[in-house]
Amino acid sequence: MPRRPHHCLVVVLFFLFLFFALPNATWAAGTIVFSTVGRSSYNFDIFSLPITTSRPRRSIAAGIDGERQLTDGVSINFNGFFPSLSSSFLASLLPSPSFPPSVDSLIYVTERNGSSAIFLDLFPSSSSSSSQSARRAALELPTRLQFLLVPTPDDVADESAGGAPTTSMKDRPTLFGDLLVYVSTHQPSPFPRQSWAAVYSTHLPTGLTRRLTPSGVADFSPAVSPSGTWTAVASYGAAGWSGDVDELLTAIYVFRTEDGSGRTLVIDHGGWPCWADETTLYFHRQGSDGWWSIYRATISIETTAISLESIVRITPPGFHAFTPATSAGAPGIIAVATRRPTSEFRHIELIDMRGGSVAYVELTRLAVPYSHHYNPFISPDGSHVGYHRCRGSGNGNPSLLLENIKSVSPDTFSLLRIDGKFPSFSRDGEMIAYVGLPGLYVVNSDGSGRPIEVLSGYAFATAWDWKRKGVIYTSYGPGFSSESTEVDIIAITLPDDADENSEPLIKKLTKGSKNNAFPSPSPDGKWVVFRSGRSGHKNLYIMDAVDGESAGIHQLTEGPWSDTMCNWSPDGEWIAFASDRDNPGSGSFAIYMVHPNGTGLRKVVHSGNGGRTNHPWFSPDSKSFVFTSDYAGVSAEPISIPHQFQPYGEIFTINIDGSNIQRLTHNSFEDGTPTWAPFFLEPVDVAESLDGSVICSFDDCHWLNIQAQLNGVLLDTSC
Ligand SMILES: *[C@@H]1O[C@H](CO)[C@@H](O)[C@H](O)[C@H]1NC(C)=O
Ligand SMILES: *[C@@H]1O[C@H](CO)[C@@H](O)[C@H](O)[C@H]1NC(C)=O
Repeated sequence: MPRRPHHCLVVVLFFLFLFFALPNATWAAGTIVFSTVGRSSYNFDIFSLPITTSRPRRSIAAGIDGERQLTDGVSINFNGFFPSLSSSFLASLLPSPSFPPSVDSLIYVTERNGSSAIFLDLFPSSSSSSSQSARRAALELPTRLQFLLVPTPDDVADESAGGAPTTSMKDRPTLFGDLLVYVSTHQPSPFPRQSWAAVYSTHLPTGLTRRLTPSGVADFSPAVSPSGTWTAVASYGAAGWSGDVDELLTAIYVFRTEDGSGRTLVIDHGGWPCWADETTLYFHRQGSDGWWSIYRATISIETTAISLESIVRITPPGFHAFTPATSAGAPGIIAVATRRPTSEFRHIELIDMRGGSVAYVELTRLAVPYSHHYNPFISPDGSHVGYHRCRGSGNGNPSLLLENIKSVSPDTFSLLRIDGKFPSFSRDGEMIAYVGLPGLYVVNSDGSGRPIEVLSGYAFATAWDWKRKGVIYTSYGPGFSSESTEVDIIAITLPDDADENSEPLIKKLTKGSKNNAFPSPSPDGKWVVFRSGRSGHKNLYIMDAVDGESAGIHQLTEGPWSDTMCNWSPDGEWIAFASDRDNPGSGSFAIYMVHPNGTGLRKVVHSGNGGRTNHPWFSPDSKSFVFTSDYAGVSAEPISIPHQFQPYGEIFTINIDGSNIQRLTHNSFEDGTPTWAPFFLEPVDVAESLDGSVICSFDDCHWLNIQAQLNGVLLDTSC
C-alpha cells in the first residue's frame, strides 16, 4: 500500500520551519571564504631592543640579549609607536599618578577579532626590575592594560554606506598630545581603482575624528613633526595609483596636523617620511641605480609657504635601506630596515650621523639573525628601538585554518580567511577543498580532524560536483603558464567514508597536452565549463562532466584574447568569467557573464584601464557574485610588508546587473580566490591541525633581491 503523506508531521515541520527560519530572516545566510598570501605565516608581534647612545659618539651599542616582546601574541600586531606618557589622555588611563616612570606604553595596529584596529597597551616597565618604582609597578600594574583607540563607535558607521557598520584598515598610528593621527580606509574613494587610504586624526578624549586628506586623494605613511604642527605623508595626489606593486611612485606632501590645511608638495619622489626636526625630513626612495636608499630633505617653512631647499642621499648603493624612523630623544640617529648582501633577511640597523660622518650599527641581525624585521620606531627618550617580526611558534596561539573576519553584512554571510588557496565547499557543506601549491587537500569545514592531501603536485582551482558526492574538479599543472603548457582538468573521486584505506580515484577529463584550467560544473551535474588554450588562445569550453571531452565538447567563447576563471551559477543560467578581451595581453581583466548557450554576453565589472578584476564566484541565489580586484588600489607602501604579488587584491561583491559593489576586506595583503557557499559557518576562528604547518616561513619583497641587483651593477660596469 502506497504511503500517504503524513499531514500532521508536515504541518508541524512547517511551523518549526517558521519558528527557526524567520528570526534569522535575512535569508541567504551563506559563507564567503577567501585566501591571503602568506598571512597565516606572519604571526607578527612587536619587539624592542635597547640602544645606548652615550656621548661622545662611537660608543653606540645594541643590547643584543635584551630583546623584549611588547605585544601579547594574539592575532598579528604590527606598525608600533611609542607614545610619550606626557599625553594627558594617557595619564588619565593610568590607575595611579605615580606610574609614569615605571610603565611602558605602546600604540600599534592589530587584526584581532577579525578587523583592523589601533590599540594602546600599558604594561610594567622593563627597566631595572630591582628598582623600587618597578617593584611598585609590579604590585600595582600586575597585568597589561589594553585599550581600543580606533575604531571608535562614531568611526564605524560610514555615512557613504548609508550609516551601515563597515570594516576598514587602520594603520601607522602616531600620538601627539591627545591627537591620534593614523591611516584608515573606511571612506571609499570616489574613483574606482584608487586607494581608500587616507589620514585621519582622532581627538582621543572626545572621539572627534577628522579627515586630513582631501577627497579623491590617497595618503600613506603619515609622520607628525616634533612640534606637532606639521604632518608629512607619502601621497599620489590627484593623479592616483597606476598599478604599482613594488615602489609606489609617491610624492611627499606636508600639511597642518590641526586641519589638513596648507597642503604642499615638498618632495616629488619619496615615501615613508619622518622628521628629525621642524625643517629636516628623512624618507626612502629607490634610486636610479636600483638601490633603495635613505635621503634627507631640508625644507623651509614660512608662514605662507613651504619649500624644498635641498635633498641629500644618505645611504650609498650596495645595500637597500628603507622605512626610516627618528626620535627627538635620539638626535643624529635614524633607525632603518636594510637588505644587505650579507644576509637573506631584512634587519633593523641604526645610522649614526652624530659628528658629521655616517656609521652603521646592526641591531636585529645580532639578536635574531634568521627572521625578517619590519618598520622600526624609536622611543621618545631614544633608549629603545621597536619593530615587528614573526613571533615564531614558541609563545603564540596556534595558526588558524579559518580566521573569522568581521563581515559587513553578518546576516547575509560570514566571512572567513582560509590557510589555503582556491577553497570550495562540498555540496553538503561538510568539507572544504583547497590547494596548497603544491597539493590538493580536503578538510572538514568545522575544523575537526586534519586536512587530508588527496592529490600531490601542482593543482589549482577546486570545485565540487553538484550531484555526485565526493567528486572534486581541479586543474593539474602549473598556474600562470602559456596556452601550450600542459594542464589537465581532472576529477578526483574521494573514497567513501566507510572505506578508509582506499585511495581517491583520479580521472583525466581533457585530452591532449594544452592548457586546460578552472573547471566549474553545471548544477544539473551534466557539464563542466573550463578554459583551454587549445586554439592558441585561452577561451571557454563546455564538456561532459562524467566522461570528459571524449564524450562531447563545444566552444563557448572565441577570440584572440584570454577568457578564464569561469564559474557556473547555481541556477544554471549564467557563466561568469574573467577576460582581457578589452585589451588582449595587457594583463587587465574584467568580469563578464554569458549564458551557457552562448547568448547574452555582457561585461559586469571592470575597475578601470589596466585594472584587474578576477575570480568571480556566484552567490547561492545567483543574484550576485564575489570576486577579487584592484578596485581599491593599494592600502600601504608594499615595501613595509612581506612579499605580495598583487598587494591590491581585495574581496568585493557585486550584483549581476553591475550595481551595488561592496568591499569586504581591508588590508595591505593580497586577498584572492574567494568562494561563496549556501551554508552558514559560525563566525569563529578554527585552529589549524595540520602537522608541520610552517610558521614564519614567508618571503621578503622579491624585488629587493640583492643578487639581481649586484648582477645588474656588474653588468653595468662590464659595458
Ligand atoms: C576579541 O579577541 C579576544 C582574543 O582573541 C577575545 O578574548 C575577545 O573575547 C574578543 N572580543 C570580541 C568582542 O569578540
Ligand atoms: C539561451 O539561454 C538563455 C538562458 O537560459 C535563454 O533565456 C535563451 O532563450 C537561450 N537562447 C537560445 C537561442 O537558446
